[in-house]
Amino acid sequence: MLSVKSILNIEDLSLEDINLVLSNADSFLEVLKRDLKKVPTLRGKTIINLFFEPSTRTKTSFELAAKRMNADLVNFSAPTSSLKKGESIIDTVRTIIAMKVDLIIVRHPDSGAAKFIFEKTNIPVINAGDGKNEHPTQALLDLYTIRKRFKDFKKVKVAIVGDILNSRVARSNIKLFKKMGFDVSVVSPPMLLPENMDYFNVDIKHNIDDVIGEVDVIYMLRMQFERHSRKLYPSVREYNEYLGLNMDRVNKMKKESIVMHPGPVNRGIEISEEVMNLNDKGSDRLLIDTQVTYGVAVRMALLYLLLG
Ligand code: CP
Repeated sequence: MLSVKSILNIEDLSLEDINLVLSNADSFLEVLKRDLKKVPTLRGKTIINLFFEPSTRTKTSFELAAKRMNADLVNFSAPTSSLKKGESIIDTVRTIIAMKVDLIIVRHPDSGAAKFIFEKTNIPVINAGDGKNEHPTQALLDLYTIRKRFKDFKKVKVAIVGDILNSRVARSNIKLFKKMGFDVSVVSPPMLLPENMDYFNVDIKHNIDDVIGEVDVIYMLRMQFERHSRKLYPSVREYNEYLGLNMDRVNKMKKESIVMHPGPVNRGIEISEEVMNLNDKGSDRLLIDTQVTYGVAVRMALLYLLLG
């Protein structure tokens, strides 16, 4: 049993909760390797994907996770809903609950939206990304990916590179990786760091070359242009010079080190085209697709633990 009724953030999860999610994900990953990728675990349960922001990975991953466990999943489309007629979010959620939904998965541009919905409804809620606040299921699938790769995963050194200021992934990952005892640093220019960076208690660098040869995991973040109210970086050329991952830098990485990114990637900005094509050349250093694959297993584990 998890100690929480909802997955809203990383702080609320105990080490036991985290280990329970990871061990259950192992079982569900086995299911996903079968020809018939389906178990009856959540038959009769109804889940709603309530996405107020665009998503490819998270939304599809939760939909597949629910369907692979025989739950009924409904996709709510904000742009074609009665929100457009002025209905409030909470009335929208109440309407959905009146139709006997068992769990709500919510993505919203405002920080705190998932917690707000849980507090108003007391139905299990999974935060699928709220504003710049948190993206806890991304962090859990990233942790799972690292654990699968590194046997001695307590000693892992991770550098998170890029737009920390606007990244909910960075916030959740820093908290989760620190909770697991990882050595965590961030690489970002001062204008892409939040003011309260001290709170995270991590080493801060401004040039990817300062960490590239030392870390086990280089975790690249997307430049979140849609959240920039003004230009926060002089040019793509300058971004590439200090933060971009190109082949020269990959060649300086330790033999076993890996590259991760939550997606979607701005090719040619945070990661070069050549590095993005590494897997086609037989390399197993770039784990972006693996993160997505494991994401379904981790989300099956979460749905099972909250509803099973
Ligand atoms: N990583 C992630 O949250 O991707 P999506 O926005 O496509 O869901």
